[in-house]
Amino acid sequence: MLTSGLQSVMAASGRLMRAAADPVGTWDKALDRFLESREYRRPLYPYAVTEEWENKLHEALGLPTGCAETRELEPLWLQAVAELRGRGVDVGPASFYGYNDGDAALIRAIWCLVRHLRPQTVVETGVGHGFTSRFVLEALSRNGQGALTSIDRPPLDPMMRDRVGSAVPSELRSGWTLIPGTSRRILPPTLSTLGGIDIFIHDSLHTERNVRFEVDRAWHALRPGGALVIDDVDTNWGLRSFLEKFKPDFAVVCQAEPVRPDTRRFNDRGLFAIILKSKAAASHSLESKH
Ligand SMILES: C[S@@+](CC[C@H](N)C(=O)[O-])C[C@H]1O[C@@H](n2cnc3c(N)ncnc32)[C@H](O)[C@@H]1O
Repeated sequence: MLTSGLQSVMAASGRLMRAAADPVGTWDKALDRFLESREYRRPLYPYAVTEEWENKLHEALGLPTGCAETRELEPLWLQAVAELRGRGVDVGPASFYGYNDGDAALIRAIWCLVRHLRPQTVVETGVGHGFTSRFVLEALSRNGQGALTSIDRPPLDPMMRDRVGSAVPSELRSGWTLIPGTSRRILPPTLSTLGGIDIFIHDSLHTERNVRFEVDRAWHALRPGGALVIDDVDTNWGLRSFLEKFKPDFAVVCQAEPVRPDTRRFNDRGLFAIILKSKAAASHSLESKH
């Protein structure tokens, strides 16, 4: 049995070796951690939860409530959770290196948007186990059109690195481009290459600085009639400052439905947001960079 002193020396040398193999990734992560700890000292912004957000979303899309697409999702969601658990992988809050898997309500929102808007181009940041990726890809496949580009900063730990996207079955991967790296480095060139996008999902680093960096650019690239989904909005002030600046016609703040309580959150669940870009909206220019 190893002594705890020897174990910590081995863990530190493992970290040093990984830092030497990936100095840029290590620097990015250290900077993010520092900025995150500074931002998280600020009190939480008290977002008002939108009751009956699903009805409001369907109304805004000009669709009847109680849609069949939501019903077709439920068995698929239960199957995805069971599959990962069957492989001995923990699912839910803090199950991926302290990060959360996409929860049932977030997945329902994304599923409805992809099934109803029938996008050609979906972009997401933050893959983790890949629940959001899996359901975007499954919904695109049922639509018979569209592709997903995902950006994820791979964990430095090789074991966790192998788990990125592990919820996505091989038969759904043909319409998927997964780009390793931070959204700060990868998102701007990806958006310029894609031209316009139809849906953007933020689920990477949840600081105001990073949320605004991503969603300001995504909003600019979003076609009129498209949608933004921002996960874990309760953890930072990014949604508030975004709404203040861009004043979209439709935004709802929704309660998450994690598979078990997330005791780190003010409501044991967390919040996410859905924002629609009106069909009449002109493209905004990026006046200030975050
Ligand atoms: C919350 S998990 C994503 C969960 C996933 N959407 C799901 O439903 O299973 C967050 C992911 O974001 C990645 N990440 C963290 N900081 C990032 C950054 N700056 N840029 C891109 N990805 C980042 C983490 O490595 C992790 O894989």
